[in-house]
Formats: sequence, C-alpha cells, structure tokens
Amino acid sequence: MRSEQPRSVRLSDYHPPRWRIETVKLDVALDATRTRVLATLAFVPNETPAAPLVLDGDELTLASIRLDGFELPAERYEATPDRLVIADPPPRPFVLEIETIIDPSANTQLMGLYRAGDTYCTQCEAEGFRRITYFLDRPDIMAVYTTRIEAEKAEAPVLLANGNLVEGGDIEGTSRHFAVWHDPFPKPSYLFALVGGRLGGIEDNFVTASGRSVKLMVFVEPGQEKRAHYAMEALKRSMRWDEEAFGREYDLDIFMIVAVSAFNMGAMENKGLNIFNDKYVLATADTATDADFARIEAVIAHEYFHNWTGDRITCRDWFQLCLKEGLTVFRDQEFTSDQRSRPVKRITDVRVLRAQQFVEDSGPLAHPVRPEVYREINNFYTATVYEKGAELVRMIKTLVGPTAFRAGMDLYFARHDGQAVTIEDFVRCFAETGGLDFEQFMRWYRQAGTPEVTVTIRHDAATRTCSLEIAQTQPATPGQPVKEPLVIPLAIGLLDADGRDLPLVFADDGRPLERGVIVLTKPAETFVFGGIEARPVPSLNRGFSAPVKIAANLTTADLRLLAAHDGDAFNRWQAVQTLASALLTANVGAIRTGKPPQQDRGLVAALETVLGDTALEPDFAAQMLALPSEADIARDIGRDVDPDAIFAARRRLRGELARELGTALRDTYRRMVTDGPYSPDAEGAGRRALKNACLDLLAADGTPAAIALAARQYQNADNMTDRMAALSTLALHPVPERQAALDDFYRRYQRDPLVIDKWFALQATIPEESCLEHVRELSRHQAFSLTNPNRVRALIGSFAQANQTQFNRLDGAGYRFVADAVLDLDARNPQVAARMMTAFRSWRALEPGRRECAEAELRRVGAATPLSNDLRDIVERSLAP
Ligand code: TRP
Ligand code: ZN
Repeated sequence: MRSEQPRSVRLSDYHPPRWRIETVKLDVALDATRTRVLATLAFVPNETPAAPLVLDGDELTLASIRLDGFELPAERYEATPDRLVIADPPPRPFVLEIETIIDPSANTQLMGLYRAGDTYCTQCEAEGFRRITYFLDRPDIMAVYTTRIEAEKAEAPVLLANGNLVEGGDIEGTSRHFAVWHDPFPKPSYLFALVGGRLGGIEDNFVTASGRSVKLMVFVEPGQEKRAHYAMEALKRSMRWDEEAFGREYDLDIFMIVAVSAFNMGAMENKGLNIFNDKYVLATADTATDADFARIEAVIAHEYFHNWTGDRITCRDWFQLCLKEGLTVFRDQEFTSDQRSRPVKRITDVRVLRAQQFVEDSGPLAHPVRPEVYREINNFYTATVYEKGAELVRMIKTLVGPTAFRAGMDLYFARHDGQAVTIEDFVRCFAETGGLDFEQFMRWYRQAGTPEVTVTIRHDAATRTCSLEIAQTQPATPGQPVKEPLVIPLAIGLLDADGRDLPLVFADDGRPLERGVIVLTKPAETFVFGGIEARPVPSLNRGFSAPVKIAANLTTADLRLLAAHDGDAFNRWQAVQTLASALLTANVGAIRTGKPPQQDRGLVAALETVLGDTALEPDFAAQMLALPSEADIARDIGRDVDPDAIFAARRRLRGELARELGTALRDTYRRMVTDGPYSPDAEGAGRRALKNACLDLLAADGTPAAIALAARQYQNADNMTDRMAALSTLALHPVPERQAALDDFYRRYQRDPLVIDKWFALQATIPEESCLEHVRELSRHQAFSLTNPNRVRALIGSFAQANQTQFNRLDGAGYRFVADAVLDLDARNPQVAARMMTAFRSWRALEPGRRECAEAELRRVGAATPLSNDLRDIVERSLAP
C-alpha cells in the first residue's frame, strides 16, 4: 500500500509518449504464490535525443533484465517495486526482457493477476498491468501481444488470453501444459487479460454479416453451465444488433466471456476475453430476478460493444474515459431500448441518472464528464463519466439528427480505427457530418453541475401566440465557481385542452419547429409560437432530451393533463412524479413543523386512471405506480434533509394509496397473474413488475389480508422475481411472516452465493431501529466475508446506500458502523473501500445534527493510518470546503 501523499495528474500535462512499444511477448508460468512473468518488449524511440526510459510498476519484484539479449549491468538501471528506470537507453529500437515474480494469492486488491477462488485471472484497467510487469502503462501505448501461459494441468486445465489460440499442449516430462495466444490488434495494456483454472463452459457460434464464423465461449465454474445460456443468447443478440445499428462486425475468430466470483466492478472488456463479475452472467428463473436478467443483458452488451468503442478505438489518456464509457453506455442503452420497451428504458435510465449522477453533481465529489485533474483514476469510474457521459452522446444525436449521427459514428470508426484519441476527435466527426459548430457544446465536457432551466409560459389571446421564456443557470461546483451557458436541446410539445399536440410554428417567420426541439444557447431567451387560440399545456424536455432540472409555471391541472395524455410517455411518467414529489415535499415540511399533512385527490385519480387503463403497457404502468424514492425526495428537498420525516411522509402516502386504490390494485394484481412457464422476456417481466408493484402498495398499510397475500406469493412462487418481490414487501413490515420467510430463504439458497447476497442486501435495507444491530450480527455471520466484494456490497453497501433512515440514524451509529467497515476493508481492497465511502457524499445536505455526525466520521477515517490513495482521495474531496 502506498501511503505517501498522492500526486495529482493533470490533463494539461499530457505529453505524447517518449517511447513506443510495438510488440509485447509475455511468458507467464502460473503458480499460486510465485508466478513468473517474462516480458519481451520491443521499444522504439519517439524523440531524438532519446529520453530516459521510465517504466511503471506496482508492488513488483524484478528477477532479471536483459537488453537485446544481454544481461543489463546493475549500474545501467534502477528498479523499485513501483518503477524501473534506464537513464541512458540506446537511442534506437531495442528489446528488453524483464522477468518479474508476483504472488497472485496475496493480491487482495483484485488488480493485476489475482485469484478468484481457485481461478487465476487479471484485471488491468486502469493501472493494473503494472502489477504484472514493468511497462509504459498508459492507454496511448498500443502494442501487438503474444501471450504464452503455462500451468499445472490439474490446477488450470483451461488457459486463456486475448486474441486467437495459436498453439498449446503438454510440456513433456512434466505435469504442466501451455497455451499460446496471439492478438493481432494493437491494444493498450489495460485491455490485456489472461485466465487459468478449472472452468466449465458452453460454446456457440456466430456468423457475422460478412459471413465469417466466430466461436463463442462462456466459461463458468464447473456445474454452473446451465446458468450461462441466457448470457450466451444476450451475446448473440448484441453481436447482431451492433451490425444492424452501427455496422460493426466482430473481428477475431473467437470471443470469450469468463465469469469470476471476485471482481471489483461489473465486468471488463479485455479484447476477445471479457471477464465478468459472475453476478452479471449467471441466471436461471429460480436464482435471478427479471431485473437481474435485464442487467445481465445490458452488461453483456456493454462489454461486447466496447470491442469497437474502447478496444479498436481507445482513449489517449484517462481523462478521456468518457470517450469509451459514455459512448458505450449510450450504445447499450439503445440496444436495450430496441430489445425491450423504449419508454420504460428511458424512465429507468433517468431514475438512475438522477439517483446517482445528480446527487454526485450536487455534492463535494462533483466533477466534469471529462475531469481535468485526478489523484486516483479508480475514483473516476463514476456516474458522471458513465451516465452523464452517455447523455452527452444522446444530446449530440438530438442536435445533428439520426442520419448525421450515424454518419458521424461511421466517420469516427473509419478515421480513428487503431488509434488512442480524445473527446475532441470524437465530437469533430459530428461537427463535420452535422454541419454544426460544437465549440459551445464542449462546455458540457468541462463544466460540472446540473444545469437548472426555468420556463415561464405565457399565452396572448390577442396575437394567438404562446411564448416560452427560458433561463438557464449553472450552479457552482468544487473548483468551478462561475460557468458559461450551455447548448441545451429541449424537446417540447404544446398540448391543447384535449391533450393533443398543437403544430409548432414560430410566430415571427412561420417556420415549423424542426424535430420538436428548441436549442438554448444563451442565459435567457424567449421562443414564441403562433396560431395558438388558447393557453396550451407545455410538455418540456420530452424524453429527457437534456440532463437538466426543469422548473416551470405549471399548475396541478396542467400536470394532470400531462399525466393522462402526453404523447411523450416519459413526460406522462414525469408528470405523475412531479405531482407526487410536490405533495411529499410539502408533507415532509408539515411533519417537521407539526402541521397536518395534505392530501392530493388528483394524484389518487391519476393513479386510478393508470390502473384502469388496460391498454397501457404493464411495465410502463408499474413505473407510473412507483412513488419517488426516499432518496429522490431528499434530493428534491436539497438541504436540511431529515430522512425520518421523509420516510414518514412517504409511508403515510403509501398507506393512503393502499386504502384508496385497494380494489383497483387487487384487480390489477389478479389481471397480471399469468400461468404457464416463466420466461425472462420483457413482456412477462412487465406483467410481473406491475403485479408486484400492486402487491407492494396493497400491503403498504400492513393489512393482514395483504400480508397473507405476500406470504402466499412467497411460498408459491415458481421464479425468483415473484419470490424476491414478496419477500421485499414482507421485509417492510414487522410481522411474523417476515422472519419465517427470511429463514426459509436462507435454508433454500444457502449453497448459492449470488442468491445469499440478495438475502444479506434485503435485511440491510429494513427501515427499522433494530436494523443496525442486525447488520452487525450479519457481519459476523458464517456466510459473511470481507474478501468477496459482492458480499461486502450486499451487506455494507446496501445499508449505506439503500437504507436512508438507518444509515442516517440520528445518533450517528450508522455512519460509525460504515466508517469502521470501510477502514477494515481499506487494508485489503482500497478500490471497493473508497467506493463504499462515497455513501457520505451528501453529508452537507443533511440537517445539522446528522451533518455533524457524518462529518466526524469522515474526519476520523481521514485521520486513520495507513490509508490508501483511493480512500484518502474520496475523504479529502468530501471534506474540502
Ligand atoms: N471498463 C469497465 C467497464 O466496462 C469498468 C471496469 C471493470 C473497471 N473493472 C474495473 C474500472 C476495475 C476500474 C477498475 O465499464
Ligand atoms: Zn464500460
């Protein structure tokens, strides 16, 4: 662990590499504690006179070093665990052979070569390759790799690396064997991967659009093969979709996915050899929920799509991370929209964006989509880079239109294939195909913070015009006190009293509004539409065309009209959310000041209409029924947050809805029950989503009949979605049925780690005083372990991120517990520890008592020694004034 003060890296300090590495040959002899790596690197100078050669390392032990075949004398180089320097290298191409010894079993950070259970695997993004060998470990060094792996046959019968298999066999006279893999596509070191272990697998085949046959493999723990089929199907659909939607074909003879049980993140797009957290691969009806299936499909697609957006074209430096991540998230979102319901996908993505990115953007960890400085790159795999990064790509598409967008993507692939590039290179492609100037748009990449847009609508009967006066403001964020106005594409509609869209024609010149999108560029501007008899109801930011907050002078009646009739499904949902949020926010205030809470017949009526409308897509109806979460309400309130008051207001409203909508909820529940076998497709999932949303609301005021219904559904369920939904509903009520079901669940699934994660997670989110003590007990449960990131995230992560009232306990004990767990974890896995600590990022928005407790815990963690760079960076930025 490095405990010295971490240095900052700045975008403005970028310098092209002084040396290139053209080919890399790795010879890896796998051993549990002494793996030997022989790297043969072909260097070419990029500058004259030749610069000193400074290679990155991290916890490395050098065993030997040769230059052009001769052992390098000790005075010619200097090697430490984290650096290898040759001050005076030959001013010409030369070959270095570097031998290092590494201990994969001691690698608890899960970066570099490590062991997940008994399997050897690697994780090199962002800076893990330097934990395998000394290297120019930066993404603009692209080389052709050949990897030879050898291992005990009994220990690792399967040996995999990037590219195509070229050779393999037994090593005569020994119990060892080897495999040689060659990847013809130049790639950065962060995309290197190898795997060795006893693995089962399933195999398939894919014929590309141009007729090439590709072998597909999904490797899993032996015995888990039957759980890999859904992932394989999702892979094939992803491959076909990328051909159809983006003209992108796969390029190697084989594509492999390996599922491992210990992984810091979701999955990794290593060229030809994607490595996955097994929770994003393994699924059958009885172990995975519909949401799990949907996430697996999305993550499989995401990693596959990286083959072109990330691997073939990569990032020049880590500041450009959104170049591959934002774009690839956009691509996987589009894939899911085409596979499932587009409006529902948009709603769920915006929910995530607001819950994660808007929160990040409004607190001390706010940063631009393309940051300009970092101390630890691992801390920048954030909602801002990923989710807001995807929104920026979506806005580019909205601005240039679908045809120029596709042409711009084609140009990007043609122009930059095989290169490590920047955001400017990417955006320039759309400037050219769209004929637009993106100078001002680039501010989106540089300015942090969520823009606020206020809209005032006025109607003038005399001139039959409707004007929208629009102003945008950019909030201050850390290091960015003042900002410039942004280019904001707002998709809009004006609805007449029957809820129909009026034609939009500019009053001054009679021009129709193109594609229904107005484009803001100034701090304040007014758009006037003509030929409008009566005051219309504006539908603003349709489809969430821009990632902004909107405030408009809409009445409750306007919102009800939008909720019932808006042709834009996203805004129908948004209107219900806005109604509910206004009511909840008002009632939080009432509860805190001891005033009687309000009711809103309009909201009840809107939801009644939803339940009565049998033509509505069930999945969409389920979204309409979901009230803003406690975290959503906290975000809307924004300051002086009291999670207990929020919980009380929300519980009250849910109870009211249960009573008022009881009959309709029961009818819809019954209507959504299907007999016939479970299938994870979108249609079946949508019906279950609506059914389970009804169940949860029905039980909201704890009536015995509804609790009994949940208990029955738990027992009779033939799939994990229904079983888990019933259990989640029971979890909210202190009834005997809850404990009985939890005990039953553990007995049923104790041999199934991914399902037991659900059991831990659910108990950590119970909104009751006793929860913390129970979580403490669970952290001593035989099935709990700090060594598995999924388990840690399930118990500690869920408590810190998904239990608003208990993490934010008034006495500070929730904060103390999480801080202690993070400190424990930091010694073993800094990346996961740092991420867990971001649960404190909204501490300044809390009411004073809780704020003080949270700050004290942040300071306590900050003062602890030793502390990883990762955790120190998060804590110091969280506390910065
Ligand atoms: N590039 C991965 C993705 O698809 C993210 C990732 C996986 C990652 N493992 C990591 C990032 C470890 C940092 C560290 O999004
Ligand atoms: Zn990614």
